[in-house]
Amino acid sequence: PPLNRIINLADIEDVAKQVLSYRAWAYYCSASDDEITLQENTRAFSRFFFRARVMRPVSKCDPSTRILGFETTLPIFVSGSALAKLGHPLGEINITKGCAPSKIIQMVSSNASFSYAEIAAASSPSQTLFFQFYKHKDDAIALKRIREIEQLGYKAIFLTVDAVVPSNRERDVRSPWVLDDQEEGLKVYNDGESVADSDPGLGVAGALIVNDDRDMTWKKTIPWLRSVTKLPIVIKGIQCVEDAILAAEARVDGILVSNHGGRQLEYALPPLEILYRLKMQRPQVFDKLEVYIDGGIRRGTDVVKAVCLGARAVGLGRPFLYAQSAYGEVGVRKMISILEREIVTTMRLMGASKIAELTPDMVERVDWQPV
Ligand code: FNR
Repeated sequence: PPLNRIINLADIEDVAKQVLSYRAWAYYCSASDDEITLQENTRAFSRFFFRARVMRPVSKCDPSTRILGFETTLPIFVSGSALAKLGHPLGEINITKGCAPSKIIQMVSSNASFSYAEIAAASSPSQTLFFQFYKHKDDAIALKRIREIEQLGYKAIFLTVDAVVPSNRERDVRSPWVLDDQEEGLKVYNDGESVADSDPGLGVAGALIVNDDRDMTWKKTIPWLRSVTKLPIVIKGIQCVEDAILAAEARVDGILVSNHGGRQLEYALPPLEILYRLKMQRPQVFDKLEVYIDGGIRRGTDVVKAVCLGARAVGLGRPFLYAQSAYGEVGVRKMISILEREIVTTMRLMGASKIAELTPDMVERVDWQPV
């Protein structure tokens, strides 16, 4: 369908499902085991309702904010996802260019299908790029990668900690494993290796994280990272209140509460529930570092709920992959404009004219699950 017939993110996902190869669809949409966490990530939002305030001026409404000090027109960012070329020949570059006009910040995956240099070169001077970091088990190799992305102008490191081993993603494993080295999309550009060389039993996903550090600790890894770089450090993959507290004690700059979009630990709690508990139980943590969530965010109302509960911004993974697969760069722009309209409408109907006016008392958690 033409882009002007697309009115929400679900429409874009439908188109992506039609245009993607079976394997690309399986890799993008899949999650662990029975995909319970995947479904609950989204369903959790339906347990939180708004307590709108009325009789407040909203003719002007400004949804812009800052993430780690960097400007963004909306409280959203791209959560780094591997292998965007599987869905479109311009892959990650579509996302970079599509984000440029709105200054949405792109977190680039360690397993991007373009080189970090190519992605940086495609970005506009006013655009901010963050780097999603899978730490190699060999510190020297990990350090080389950090130096590379620092020199290229990436502005923060999101250290992923929820993927120390590959999980069981059955849709991905079942997808036809007739790999062809010429299939550009399956090349992890930055390792110069093809996923084709690895163990087929693990699926595409398992093949990507074989060399990662499985022995990271708060005591060792964070001080090491701090000692080698001045870039802000964000821990991606916090899954409970206790670890959010430890992250604050470790003095990192931010945490991304995430279960990897349901793709790692099956039965991990939905990020929105953890955010809610953190806000209720440990509000001080939000003064020490920035808190973000990702997983299952598909509507402006989802974004606004998370912001009310203290999230500085929220990440979206699959929606950006689907938008660029279905329509390239303009699909990414369209997706952002849909979210902008939804966010601004929600804010106005809640009586909020700027992000700072979105507060925890404006949402209520209900203990029934709406149909
Ligand atoms: C991911 N994600 C991910 N995370 C990460 O730290 N490094 C990576 O390389 C990838 N790769 C990846 C590939 C694909 C196809 C998906 C769908 C996801 C996880 C991603 O950053 C993010 O946490 C989730 O995608 C958020 O959930 P939603 O928005 O997809 O529901």
